[in-house]
Amino acid sequence: MAFGWIDEQAELRRRAGLVRTLRPRAADAPLLDLASNDYLGLARHPEVAEGAARAARTWGGGATGSRLVTGTTELHTELERELADFCGFEAALVLSSGYAANLAAVTALAPHGSLIVSDAGNHASLIDGCRLARGRTQVVAHTDPDAVRKALSGHDAAAVAVSDTVFSVDGDAAPLAALARACREHGAGLVLDDAHGLGVLGDGGRGAPHAAGLAGAEDVVVTLTLSKSFGSQGGAVLGPARVVEHLVNTARTFIFDTGLAPAAAGAALSALRLLRREPGRAARAGAVARALHHRLTAAGLEAVRPDAAVVSVRAPSPEQAVRWAADCRAAGLSVGCFRPPSVPDGISRLRLTARADLSGAEIERAVQVIGDTRP
Ligand SMILES: Cc1ncc(COP(=O)(O)O)c(C=O)c1O
Repeated sequence: MAFGWIDEQAELRRRAGLVRTLRPRAADAPLLDLASNDYLGLARHPEVAEGAARAARTWGGGATGSRLVTGTTELHTELERELADFCGFEAALVLSSGYAANLAAVTALAPHGSLIVSDAGNHASLIDGCRLARGRTQVVAHTDPDAVRKALSGHDAAAVAVSDTVFSVDGDAAPLAALARACREHGAGLVLDDAHGLGVLGDGGRGAPHAAGLAGAEDVVVTLTLSKSFGSQGGAVLGPARVVEHLVNTARTFIFDTGLAPAAAGAALSALRLLRREPGRAARAGAVARALHHRLTAAGLEAVRPDAAVVSVRAPSPEQAVRWAADCRAAGLSVGCFRPPSVPDGISRLRLTARADLSGAEIERAVQVIGDTRP
């Protein structure tokens, strides 16, 4: 029977407690949200929603074509200019998602004969960029600049190292300055995915590369998502103008993809302007994460010290992680649940995201529920 093997896989998933299901979210769900990536609490901010609505009224529901045909509006160009300026890079290119941005950056910067050095904890979209690229990939130990140095030594052709700035599973940060030093010793480029750093780290939320003194560097390229701190949708690549020009001409997920919907571009631009006006939101997201970590460990739970806004709490098994998250939900708290195959080390976790707009009472309530429902 066609696709018969699918049922065998489904059975294996069921037995391993790894079945995933979709849970439609009601607009007015009375849950305390520690599961989304809305780090700055901007997704439903009136200014951000109005930015989306205004853009849709002006430009329509879709971009109408790929960026090189009809899909570049003046709004896209404005967003690119302001993103580059905010994060301190010469140029920016907006794509339809952070996933597409990572595929674009890695494939375009790793031609045939080149070497890609990739951190073992990188996000799936960077991994898929490595898989699609013509260059050869070498996976190296997590957050280990010496391993990057060793991988690069002895390779004479073009090379690039790729890393998340803040890793999505445990919320730990990459040693960016040391990574850049290792790359420079070998004339290699550095591609950094700042999906979880933008809006949280760096001066006023300018991101982890900005905080590490790498903004505007000739040999550093940064990828972003507009779907987390900016409460919208879409992605971007930031870097030297000649790199962006190279992507416009060669990156397949840019060239063969419809431009970002105007509403998403408008929402992201409004979020960016709001963050410029209210830079304290960035520091607040980090402070909420640290407060959560402090209270959870004081309650005897095993939580990883957060470097940005992600707080990870260990669970004994995939089944218990799923039940723990469901029990939290029943008690009015929405938390994320990471388990294999999404976690490279096989350890299941509850994943909490701090939001700048969480009150002290909400933090206390979240810790109470997580403690009361622990397996
Ligand atoms: C580290 C990282 N990079 C890239 C992405 C993909 O971004 P997007 O959702 O905009 O496709 C995500 C998650 O969504 C992520 O966590």
